[in-house]
Amino acid sequence: MIGFRYIRARLSRPGFPSGSYTHPARKMSSQLKDQTLFKEQAFIGGKFVDAASGATFVVTNPATGDKIGSAAEMDVGDLQRAIDTAAAAFKTFRKTSGRARARMIRAWYDLTVANTEDLGRLITLENGKTLAEAKGEVTYAASFMEWFSEEAPRVYGDVIPASNGVNRAFTVKQPVGVCGIITPWNFPAAMITRKVAAAVAAGCTVVVKPDAETPYTALALAELARRAGIPDGVINIVTTSKNLQTVGKELCSSPKIKKISFTGSTNVGKLLMDQASSTLKKCSFELGGNSPFIVFDDVDLDLAVEAAVLSKFRGTGQTCVCANRFFVHAAVYDAFAAKLTAAVAKFRIGNGFDAGVTHGPLIHGRALAKVQDHVDDATAKGATVTIGGAPAAALGANFFEPTVVTGVTQDMKIASEETFGPIAALFKFTTEDEVVELANSVEVGLASYLMTNDVSRVWRIAEGLEFGMVGVNTGAISDAATPFGGVKYSGFGREGSKYGIEEYVTIKSVTIGNIGL
Ligand code: SIN
Repeated sequence: MIGFRYIRARLSRPGFPSGSYTHPARKMSSQLKDQTLFKEQAFIGGKFVDAASGATFVVTNPATGDKIGSAAEMDVGDLQRAIDTAAAAFKTFRKTSGRARARMIRAWYDLTVANTEDLGRLITLENGKTLAEAKGEVTYAASFMEWFSEEAPRVYGDVIPASNGVNRAFTVKQPVGVCGIITPWNFPAAMITRKVAAAVAAGCTVVVKPDAETPYTALALAELARRAGIPDGVINIVTTSKNLQTVGKELCSSPKIKKISFTGSTNVGKLLMDQASSTLKKCSFELGGNSPFIVFDDVDLDLAVEAAVLSKFRGTGQTCVCANRFFVHAAVYDAFAAKLTAAVAKFRIGNGFDAGVTHGPLIHGRALAKVQDHVDDATAKGATVTIGGAPAAALGANFFEPTVVTGVTQDMKIASEETFGPIAALFKFTTEDEVVELANSVEVGLASYLMTNDVSRVWRIAEGLEFGMVGVNTGAISDAATPFGGVKYSGFGREGSKYGIEEYVTIKSVTIGNIGL
C-alpha cells in the first residue's frame, strides 16, 4: 500500500484561525478583505435580522472543529415573515422588465467576481474545500449569474395558428411566483446562484434555506445582491439548524410558495415532494447520484486517469456528480488501477487554507462514518485497498485518506449506494452490453462518464445510459451553458442552460376570437 504525505493544519499562521477561540468578528476581520461580508443574521426584506426568539446556532469549521461564528436559529414564524415579504415584493417585481432584471443580475455577477477571494475564504471556512477549489466554485457560481442575466430579456412566447382558422393565439411566459429554494452544503455558493439567478431572471422572488453547515456564503451573496440593487424582499435567506424539519415542511406546504427547488438527497427529496403535493407546487429536484465511470480498452489511460481524478475527488468526493463506480475493461484494469493509485498518492490532504493541500476534510463525522463503512464492507467481501482506506485522524476528526479499492463486485454496498466521499471503487467488465446493464442497475440516474475513442460506441452507450448527463472523455461536465439534472430517483427539472429559466415560469395562452375577418 502506498502512503500519503499529510499536510498538518497550520493554525498559528497569520490570517488564519488560531486554535483557541476568539470573538468571531475579530477572527473574520483578519480573514476577509471586506469584513462586512461576514453576516451572522438572516436576511429578510433587504435587512439582516435576528430570529424573533433571538436564538442562534453555532457553525464550525470542518477542518479544525473550531467555531466560526453563529447564525440565526429561525423558526416557522420567522419563515412566514420571509414568505410574506417575498410575496409582497413579487407584486411589483413581477412587473419589472427582463432588461431591468438582467442589469441587476449582471451587477450582482460583477460584485461576486470582485469578491472572489472573500467568498472563497468563506467557502473554505465553512465547507472545508481548498481555497483554490473554493475560488473555482465562486467563478462557477458567478457563471450562473452571468448566464441568467443574459437569459432574462429573452423569455419569449409563441404566436400560434389556431385550429379554427379564425382565432389567433399567443403565449406569454410569466414568473411562477414566490419560490422556496433549499440548498446543500457541498456547493455553498453555486447551488444558490444556479437556482436564484434563474428565478430572479424570470421575475420571481425567493426564500432560500441554505444548509446549516454553510450559511455564511449564502448570507454574503445576499449582501452582494443588496449592493447590486436587487430590490428588498426579492431575495430572502432563512437560516436554521434545529428547526430544519418544521421550516422545510412549512416552505413546502405554504400556499404562498408556488415552486420548490431542492438539491440534496433522494430521501429528503421524496419527503419534500410529499409535503409540496397538498398545494400542487411546481418542483425541480436534483437528488442523489451513483455515477458510473466507464473505461474502455481503446482509450489513452493517462487521459482516463486525469478525468477519473477530476470526477471522483472534486470536493473530496462530495458532489452529486462524482464518479461512484468505475467500470474498467478487463484488458486495462490492472494498468488503470496502478496509474490511478499513483495519481492519488500525489494528493495532499489537510486544511484547505494551507499551501500545497489538494483535498480538504469531509463535512462531518456522519460523512466519514459512511465512507469507512463502504471501505469495510468492500474489504470484508474480498476487495483490496491499493491506497488509503482509513481516517487521517492526525489531521482532524473529519479527514479520510483518499482511497482506491480494486476487486469490487455487485454484492458490495458501494455498488448500490452513493458513498459521497473519496473512494474510487473499481469494477471489472468485458462487454459493452454488460457494462451498460451494470451502469443502469441503480435506482438513480444523474451523471455518467464514458472513456472511449470509438465514435459509434459513444452514440450507442450515451443513448443507452439511463442518466441525465453523460460526459465523454472528460470528468468535468458542469457548465452554466449545459442542462444539469437527472432521471429516475435523481429527480427532475433542469438547471443552467436555456432550459433552467423554464423551471421558474408558467406558460399562459391567450386566444383572440372574433377578429372580424
Ligand atoms: C452537486 O453536487 O449537487 C452539483 C455538482 C455540480 O454542479 O457540478
